[in-house]
Amino acid sequence: TVADLKGLKQGQLRLAVITTAKYIIPRLLGPFCQLYPGIDISLQVTNHERILERMVGNMDDLYIMSQVPEHLDVHVKAFLENPLVVFAPVNHPLAQEKNIPIEKLVDQPFIMREPGSGTRRAVQSLFEEHGIKVKVKLELGSNEAIKQAIAGGLGISVLSRHTLLTDSSEFSILDVQHFPMKRTWYMVYPSGKQLSIVARTYYEYLLEAAKKIVAQEVITSVPQ
Ligand code: PGA
Repeated sequence: TVADLKGLKQGQLRLAVITTAKYIIPRLLGPFCQLYPGIDISLQVTNHERILERMVGNMDDLYIMSQVPEHLDVHVKAFLENPLVVFAPVNHPLAQEKNIPIEKLVDQPFIMREPGSGTRRAVQSLFEEHGIKVKVKLELGSNEAIKQAIAGGLGISVLSRHTLLTDSSEFSILDVQHFPMKRTWYMVYPSGKQLSIVARTYYEYLLEAAKKIVAQEVITSVPQ
């Protein structure tokens, strides 16, 4: 029976995901574990640079990241969009403005992710492209800490829209030109590596789960 077949899928699944993916991956693990009770999971949540280190050290089965490693030979599959948006406190003076020129961001105290963060790198390259220099008031190593700092009135920031999933009432998303920045979540693993049955099962599961999420129109898909 199907149930027996599922029972055959046993073992450990080691996942390492960038910080923005923690807003969705753990949730999707629930139904996966119900389908495959024999699979145990370890999930590491860390920034882009640490993910690269883990990949080089072959520490996990599968990685989720937003920026494909440039100097590693990897297998890559896009599965969901991960747009970056400008977060501000809900009552911010710019909250009602439309089509805000990106240059206006230089007047705002800015909260930046730590070095090694892919979000930081994407934000910095956008600002460089437009020749603007924001005033970094605070540097923080976590999306959640940044959200608390924004809610506390310390400044604005650029974060993945996924980080808003649970508590949207405290924040506004500013309508700034060139935002949302288009980014994508990819499932990645080294080309030379053969996925275990367990990892392959998860890989297929996540692709299907992403399609369902898109169908519910919560998040936009990416072209395959
Ligand atoms: P980060 O990853 O945690 O390294 O910023 C998020 C991303 O790259 O989208």
